[in-house]
Amino acid sequence: MTQPTSKILLINDEPLILKEFLKGLNAAARALDNPFGISFIGALTAKEGLQLIERDGDIQVVIVDDKLYAVQDGGRRQAARTGGAREAPRSLQVSALKLVQKITALRPELDLYILIEKEKEDQIVDALFAEAVDGYFYREERDLRGMYRILNAQIAERARTPFYDALRSYVLAAKDAWHTPGHSSGDSLRGSPWVNEFHEFMGEHVFDADLSVSVKALDSLMEPTGVIAESQQMAAKAFGARKTFFATNGTSTANKVILQTLIAPGEKLLLDRNCHKSVHHGVVLSGARPVYLDSSVNKKFGVFGPVPKATILKAIEDHAGAQLLVLTSCTYDGLRYDLKPIVDAAHARNIKVLIDEAWYSHARFHPDLRPTAMEAGADYATQSAHKTLSAFSQAAFIHVNDAGFKEHLFRENFNMHTSTSPMYSMIASLDVSRKQAVMEGYKLLERTLMLATELREQINSTGAFRVLELDDLLPDEVKGDGIRLDPTKITVDISSCGMTVDELQQELYSRFNITVEKSTFNTITLLLTIGTTRSKCSRLYDALMRIARAQRAPRRLYRTPDLPPFTELLHLPRDAYYCGGELVPLLDENDQPNRQLIGRICADQVVPYPPGIPVLVPGQLITDNIVEYLIRYLRVQNKVELHGVVYQGYFPSIRVLSAAEEKKIAPLHETAPERRAA
Ligand SMILES: Cc1ncc(COP(=O)(O)O)c(C=O)c1O
Repeated sequence: MTQPTSKILLINDEPLILKEFLKGLNAAARALDNPFGISFIGALTAKEGLQLIERDGDIQVVIVDDKLYAVQDGGRRQAARTGGAREAPRSLQVSALKLVQKITALRPELDLYILIEKEKEDQIVDALFAEAVDGYFYREERDLRGMYRILNAQIAERARTPFYDALRSYVLAAKDAWHTPGHSSGDSLRGSPWVNEFHEFMGEHVFDADLSVSVKALDSLMEPTGVIAESQQMAAKAFGARKTFFATNGTSTANKVILQTLIAPGEKLLLDRNCHKSVHHGVVLSGARPVYLDSSVNKKFGVFGPVPKATILKAIEDHAGAQLLVLTSCTYDGLRYDLKPIVDAAHARNIKVLIDEAWYSHARFHPDLRPTAMEAGADYATQSAHKTLSAFSQAAFIHVNDAGFKEHLFRENFNMHTSTSPMYSMIASLDVSRKQAVMEGYKLLERTLMLATELREQINSTGAFRVLELDDLLPDEVKGDGIRLDPTKITVDISSCGMTVDELQQELYSRFNITVEKSTFNTITLLLTIGTTRSKCSRLYDALMRIARAQRAPRRLYRTPDLPPFTELLHLPRDAYYCGGELVPLLDENDQPNRQLIGRICADQVVPYPPGIPVLVPGQLITDNIVEYLIRYLRVQNKVELHGVVYQGYFPSIRVLSAAEEKKIAPLHETAPERRAA
């Protein structure tokens, strides 16, 4: 097993003192138990310190002297090298407070200590009280072994994984299991002539660690008070939230839980129409009265962009009684909002904000990717830790910043959606993902961002493929909205390579063993994560280069039909959904668009997947445009799933309200909110 390397940076402008501290601390690190590979390095100025923090991903702790002075023209360093006295002129450079703020803005995960003078203790501690300072040392004490022990313990604390540690100990204790799951630590599979192979393939610990709520020592996800609660608290600190909850059914469930918690039937919700289908399911479950905001579309590349800022701000103004605003940031393609002004405008109207950060759980750990939704002041953020961090599939975080958070309501809704037998190894993977993010997230993301830059250059150099940059991706209507691109998502224009997107994906898959994240009619999207290696990038580049060298003649690319504009919502989605409805075919007996559907009201969500944007939601009016779009989609995009389309034999059909049901349920304008008591 590779051992970690940890550096502790001491910033102190007194060369002799710095030297003495470093010598003593490094001697302590060599002499005492040192499981994290700690060594001490120094910086004489705040500037140099900040540069080191930015450059060196192994730095885990920073010790800042509370009085820092600038050195003019390197004179002081010269003096240091020659062991000379203080002849260089000094001017106050930056206070410890300012420096702590700068370090936190750069790398909030680092531990911070302050070296102080005993007499000034109260003043300094008061000034730094609100900052993320972990502790203080007296400069005069010089108890360097003691200091080392404390710093070592501090790193150990951050590197702890309370839940995973408990799970591992339990597994290694090899208790006899008289409880679920039925495979009983794999005993039902091991040795079986029929299914032993599954056990062998998956590995013994997959089964040993597949435990659930029956093991009391491992706490309960539905009422955490022990190791799960502790791990969640550590995650909250890591992600800058007041509270964090672990979810074991993805951001899909996390979104539904938040919507059900915050919205009573009939209450208004502002949401990007482009939101993930789970948000639309949350609309049905909560009984929300949705106000759909149309997202921008880049028709040239078939990419859905953010909702224009002006549209969001207008909706906030027009719907002051709304309870919640839901946006996706970043999008599947990596486009992220300038969130702060939007969150501020929503809060000014007492509207809470949920940001779906399914694709952005890594962002907290690199300054190029921040601010995160929590940092921009959002009340809730949901993150698929499994998409961009090292968690198992389905593992997700729910982060809460809402000062008025009603935990009892949240808990009821969370438990409503959570299996009573959550997979504990998935919870362990969330705990470990958090640890990795705080211990080495910055370093890994530095590498990922560098690989993303290199890969962009390589792809562009093929001549046949071109990476789409922010300006290419952004639809015109959002160009002035301060939107930025997460560079770890690379969207490639394939229109000059001479292949259709299906042919290209097939060639990449069968000839080069490469699978990509997603595609549109003329783009493919690659996802780089903290697990992306340079050799994987080289293999992709090599494959694209070989395909480019074949110099195929350009092919006609089939365009995805344009998504029809949103039509009228006539009933609450919940009311329409719970009608029995009837199935009506999309095509008539002459294979033409079925006119019987026009003017009817849809009872289901109809969603082409990908991209997962609903064409119809329950309660929405069906028009000829929509029927034609769905038929075109079925004909052109035969590999795309069309959720909500039901096959009656060979006939694709959709569920619509019957005439009697239309009369029976209340029209949207007559539905009043049913606010429940807190
Ligand atoms: C924007 C968005 N939100 C939520 C989800 C659902 O996340 P999960 O797969 O973790 O349930 C997805 C999945 O692709 C998504 O793209």
